[in-house]
Amino acid sequence: MKFEARPGDVSTIATDAVIAGIYEGDDSPGEAIGELNAALGGVIAELIKSGEVKGKLNEMHVLHTLGKIPARVVVVAGMGKRGEWDIDKLRDLAGEAVRALRKHKVKSAAMAMWAGGDGGLEHAESARAVAEGCLLGAYLYRRHMTKDENNGHEVEEIILLENDGAALDAVSEGLEKGRIMAGAVIMARDMVNEPANHMTPAHMAEIAGEVASRHGLDITVMDRAHMEKEKMGALLGVAQGTAEPPRFIVLNYRGDPSKKEVVGLVGKGLTFDSGGISLKPQEFMSDMKGDMSGGAAVIAALDAIAQMKLAVNVTALIPATENLPGGGALKPGDVLKASNGKTIEVVNTDAEGRLILADALSYAVRNGLSPIVDLATLTGACHIALGDLYAGLFSNDRGLADRLIRAGNDAGEKLWQLPLPAEYKEQNKSDIADIKNSGGRYGGAITAALFLQEFVGETPWAHIDIAGPFMTDKTSGALVKGATGFGVRTLVRFVSGLSDK
Ligand code: BES
Ligand code: MN
Ligand code: ZN
Repeated sequence: MKFEARPGDVSTIATDAVIAGIYEGDDSPGEAIGELNAALGGVIAELIKSGEVKGKLNEMHVLHTLGKIPARVVVVAGMGKRGEWDIDKLRDLAGEAVRALRKHKVKSAAMAMWAGGDGGLEHAESARAVAEGCLLGAYLYRRHMTKDENNGHEVEEIILLENDGAALDAVSEGLEKGRIMAGAVIMARDMVNEPANHMTPAHMAEIAGEVASRHGLDITVMDRAHMEKEKMGALLGVAQGTAEPPRFIVLNYRGDPSKKEVVGLVGKGLTFDSGGISLKPQEFMSDMKGDMSGGAAVIAALDAIAQMKLAVNVTALIPATENLPGGGALKPGDVLKASNGKTIEVVNTDAEGRLILADALSYAVRNGLSPIVDLATLTGACHIALGDLYAGLFSNDRGLADRLIRAGNDAGEKLWQLPLPAEYKEQNKSDIADIKNSGGRYGGAITAALFLQEFVGETPWAHIDIAGPFMTDKTSGALVKGATGFGVRTLVRFVSGLSDK
């Protein structure tokens, strides 16, 4: 899909389709589409009057123009209530619109509604949201289908009509940023949607290797023997139950060699989580190919950061393995030693994410990365607490937490901070080791985060639990059923905020 910004008018432009937005409750077509309505003989006004078109958010109404204007199709897109219109709604509306276009076999379309007229949205940010929404809303995971159900119909070109010449550059820049961002989100979605027999730890490492070679980044991929040398006993403990070789991926982006600081992004790369000997019930296992979503987000974020040439240094760490039961598997009651020397009693082999992160966080601290941000599908408890939309945020540093929440807001991803109360550390106490890997049912997302905190020392750190939003079961707005790619946009925004300083 290509994007372009240029002056023009929906009633005269020669694209297959034009998209016009209307607000809910407006009793006549607004300024932007008044001319279009006139050119179509007043049909839009008629539809509003009859109540067929209400302008409700994401409501799509497709009209055929029968030669009255150059475009074959008009999509009247509901923008919802005036005053509630914002960038996130624009991104979602673009996603809905692009699916309507595809359904109607449209290859090229022009948009008038995108800047939102009275909405007062900023040009570059709006253009960015449109590019993101179109690309993400059109996303399909078709890699394993031998027949293309979509008949090969794809929207090829989207034109943003912008008649303010002074704004054109900002619009083009926004489109380019949105294209890069959506490309990275799609990369993460592809990795997460890929079944576990394809998306193995070794395959994740290959993809990270491709990112490295595309942008000339330095990469180290550790195998089992190398992890042994690093004394990563917790990661190795999880990996001992599977024949699939584990990997510890270290991907380095150096955008500002004059700076000493290197940000650490850590992503859980559990390519399949069966629970291990503490086997999950069938209904909880179905999405567990996606338990590497944190790792995928971190790799994809680095791809975008490198494309944008942000002036920061970032190292991504991805501990990657499967968690399977078997003759050699970790047993409840086993004690492991992480690479920082701490011993862990494994009371539940299904609490494996915190084990592999323990070694990754220790490695990050050992190598002086700061701040450290980890992303993980860590606990069902976080999903229960915050639902599908919000990721849980935990941090030992208020400023870092605030910057991440802001980055999430700007990016259209919601983070909600949960506490790290010292009182709850009691729940993680072991009778036979330094700590145990599960603190029980109550406050499960919190005790998991408190466990991680034991491995970061005093380094500013934040943990983002994405067990709620990593997958979605319905297509809506910029989301498509399956992997969401959650976290990529927040991480890129967060890092780009650091590069501005
Ligand atoms: N990967 C799961 C958490 C998860 C569940 C992510 C559902 C996404 C959707 C994690 O490894 C896990 O199994 N956590 C356990 C922890 C418990 C045993 C302390 C959980 O949440 O049940
Ligand atoms: Mn688990
Ligand atoms: Zn897991």
